[in-house]
Amino acid sequence: MDLGVKGKKVLVTAASKGLGKACAKAYAEEGAQVFIASRNKAQLDRAANEIIEQTGNANVEAIVCDLTKSQDIENMMQSIGRVDILINNAGGPPAGKFNDFDDADWQHAFELLLMNIIRTVRAVTPAMREQQFGRIVNITSSSMKQALDGLLLSNTFRPAIVGLSKSLSQELASDQILINSVGPGTMETDRIRDIYKQQPSDESVEERLNKAGTNIPIGRIGQPEEFAKAILFLGSAANTYITGQTLIVDGGAMKTL
Ligand SMILES: NC(=O)c1ccc[n+]([C@@H]2O[C@H](COP(=O)([O-])OP(=O)(O)OC[C@H]3O[C@@H](n4cnc5c(N)ncnc54)[C@H](OP(=O)(O)O)[C@@H]3O)[C@@H](O)[C@H]2O)c1
Repeated sequence: MDLGVKGKKVLVTAASKGLGKACAKAYAEEGAQVFIASRNKAQLDRAANEIIEQTGNANVEAIVCDLTKSQDIENMMQSIGRVDILINNAGGPPAGKFNDFDDADWQHAFELLLMNIIRTVRAVTPAMREQQFGRIVNITSSSMKQALDGLLLSNTFRPAIVGLSKSLSQELASDQILINSVGPGTMETDRIRDIYKQQPSDESVEERLNKAGTNIPIGRIGQPEEFAKAILFLGSAANTYITGQTLIVDGGAMKTL
């Protein structure tokens, strides 16, 4: 299938590693012009070079941006100009229960998970409307559908992204701009390893990751590249009729309808 992303300008935020990087690589493989953004410049440059080497696509550019800062987002958008396909990703919020968080923690999670999307969507949609084409995909979490133990900030803000995206899908569809949200279950990235490391256990992280896999119908946790395939399709010209939807990529782990 021709995904129709060759030559398209694609921005993947929070893409120096993990799921964001896998998505950026998937677009680079299809011949898109890819921009990746995150905070650590050295790591970001390494990721861009790695994607260029692995895909043979030299059109991969790294832009330093802290997604919790509106000025950073504004600067990034100005330097990129028109964006055809926007993949919204962000770092995961810290784990914890209600009494672990103060106002500053809540404000930070709000800026990182929700305002980030509001600001990038606000920046890209005028040009998308003008050209009558745009695709936006939000990387969220399975917590957009089912609360996760110990991830209160995620459980609060991910469903808000779903509400926002559903409303946006109604407003943007007549201009051929489609927006969807994709939630990972358990994918093998640094984020998951960090969460496991924080949980006290006699078993190694590796042992626990393997064990977690046996509770998933597919029999293992997922790889970032498997997640990226779903993003690539929804955020492509080949997707012409799916908008306002939520998709969970979790090997069948979640049992909600
Ligand atoms: N992996 C999973 O199984 C899983 C499951 C459910 C949900 N998720 C969610 O999916 C998203 C991606 O997860 P991941 O596993 O790929 O995480 P990861 O491997 O830890 O990568 C996170 C990326 O986000 C960037 N980032 C963090 N804070 C940022 C900020 N303020 N501004 C710009 N970039 C920022 C990081 O780079 P810098 O630190 O250099 O900025 C890095 O590139 C997260 O929101 C996570 O909660 C993941």
